[in-house]
Amino acid sequence: MKKLAVFISGSGSNLQAILDATADGQLEADVVLVVSNRQSAYGLTRAEKAGVPTLYFPFKPYREAGKNRATYDADLAKQVSQYQPDLIVLAGWMHIFSPAFLNRFPNRVINLHPALPDTFVGVGGIEWAFEAYHKGEIEHGGCMVHYVSPEVDRGPVIVQTIVPILPEDTLNTYAERVHATEHRIIIKAIQKVWVTLGESS
Ligand code: GAR
Repeated sequence: MKKLAVFISGSGSNLQAILDATADGQLEADVVLVVSNRQSAYGLTRAEKAGVPTLYFPFKPYREAGKNRATYDADLAKQVSQYQPDLIVLAGWMHIFSPAFLNRFPNRVINLHPALPDTFVGVGGIEWAFEAYHKGEIEHGGCMVHYVSPEVDRGPVIVQTIVPILPEDTLNTYAERVHATEHRIIIKAIQKVWVTLGESS
């Protein structure tokens, strides 16, 4: 069985979608570790309920000790590598990885982003898209899963899909549509990566 490590910073609804898909056999994988950089992240509770090991790994103590991001990234990579994940899924993980992390897991880190490629990068992708729609700058929103490169929310795309924005949408109804779509594409993306890994082995 393939091993997944899922990184979160918040609610973890996408983590839940992954846990559900592994439980019902839709996804051939075990989540072997959930990492959070925020202690209050509800995703940690979801992991505990599913009996998955968790690692709370905040950057703050590093910053306070005058250590840089590369040191944090290298230490985290070391801890995670003990679980020997086949794939690391960033599902709402709000920390930008440097090569000190990414080089430890080449082509093994993917990220979910609530906007289409090269648009609305960073935090607030849903809000930005909603605003841009109302300014007449875009006709629809979207979401995607991509391999992670050191640039924020960029890298080769694995799955992307359009998410309609309707004139009667509120930010909330649009956000709900994005999240429901994300819960599907994150599974599809992992399945696609499994096929790629199978072809390359
Ligand atoms: C998701 O919408 C994901 O696309 C976004 O964080 C949310 C996490 O939701 N990620 C980014 O914005 C990355 N730039 P969740 O905690 O309920 O899974």
